[in-house]
Amino acid sequence: MLRREFVRMVSGAAAAGALSTRALHAWPRLEDILRADGVRPDSAHFWRLVRGQFLLDRDVAYLNTGGLGASPLPAIRKLKEMIDAEECHPSAGHDKADWWRFKEKFAPWLGPEVSPRELALTGTATEGINIVLNGLPWAAGDEVITSTHEHPAVNVPLLLKRQRQRIVIRTFEPDVERGSGNTERIAALITPRTRLIIISHVTCTLGQQFPIAEIGDLARSRDILFALDGVQAIGQVPLDLKKAGVDFYAVSGHKWMHGTKRTGILYVREDRFDHLQPTVVGAHSSAQCDMAAGTLTLHPTAQRYEFATQNEALFYGLAAAVDFIDTIGRDVINAHNRRLSEAFYEALGSIDGVEILSPRESEWRTHMITFRLGGRDNEPVYDELRQRKLRVRKVNEHALDAIRVSFALYNHEVELDRLLTEIHDLARS
Ligand SMILES: Cc1ncc(COP(=O)(O)O)c(C=O)c1O
Repeated sequence: MLRREFVRMVSGAAAAGALSTRALHAWPRLEDILRADGVRPDSAHFWRLVRGQFLLDRDVAYLNTGGLGASPLPAIRKLKEMIDAEECHPSAGHDKADWWRFKEKFAPWLGPEVSPRELALTGTATEGINIVLNGLPWAAGDEVITSTHEHPAVNVPLLLKRQRQRIVIRTFEPDVERGSGNTERIAALITPRTRLIIISHVTCTLGQQFPIAEIGDLARSRDILFALDGVQAIGQVPLDLKKAGVDFYAVSGHKWMHGTKRTGILYVREDRFDHLQPTVVGAHSSAQCDMAAGTLTLHPTAQRYEFATQNEALFYGLAAAVDFIDTIGRDVINAHNRRLSEAFYEALGSIDGVEILSPRESEWRTHMITFRLGGRDNEPVYDELRQRKLRVRKVNEHALDAIRVSFALYNHEVELDRLLTEIHDLARS
């Protein structure tokens, strides 16, 4: 009964677009549907039910979670509910107990031993990366190692540091043949002036995962700080930041966590708090502040990197998205996404004219696969795929002229088949 009602609703209002707040509240919850139906996660039906928890246009195959993740209905519901509540009873400040609860909920996503004390809630990963790069003590001539495949979230603040503080940036080209090749390339760039290695955990260009445990060992052995842009990794690959010896890790909540837009988390290893100075501070950054006495003590946790009024509804939304994903299971979702991305990778390999740019070793591949049709301009290929309602992402960075496809929990085999048929067609034309 519940299932029939659910399917009817899926094919109705949600498919047509946005839902009213009332309709959102009437929407069946995934937990209830799964309990009532006893559906198994290895069935296509299960993933159809999951897809039904998103407002995504049914006619479009949304294959760009690496660009922006769609949020499930419980997250949207919670976000709207909390915005309404704030407007009914406006109150300055945010609920400290809930704020802490969010950090407790997010910490296991970053690793089994990560403490909520080590997390600051930010607006985006970009904000977290800026907190790190602006908070370290730089001297002219200090060196930073990064890759040539970084997002502007890393490149822009680094180049600004170079302009303003005359740091030296050394770059390596990612090795897509061998994971360890990346560690070797980084090692070759280290000099006595190297202070920091900052790279993506998973690149936005090729969906390439770097061997962070190996690179972390290298950084530690040479007394170099290790910072990661984890935007494309969290929710895609299991994280264990303690094991990898990472000092700083910045993520956004709005990609593979499927959370509210403009949410982020910054991890700062607790024994780095004194080394990383907060640069924007205000209410909530301190444990004690007394202008008359001229005293200030920063907050003892990573809350020292937070400041001022928050839009707490955003984090209620992110927490609800995390609950939704944990209800299904991160490993269940990863296995599903992996099935699709690996099937795509394999099938692409048999299409004449296709060049696959993502890593050769499956261990370093993720649910984002990048390819191009060789010997031609891929802009029209991308345009054509969008025309055919396949929402992928063009990769113009580093003159790659390629196309990136992301597979997430709302994607399914029918979309994969449709995508492959169209690529076949375009490769022949
Ligand atoms: C690797 C990487 N880093 C950083 C960002 C920027 O994320 P945000 O705008 O949420 O800070 C992106 C966005 O696509 C990304 O792919």
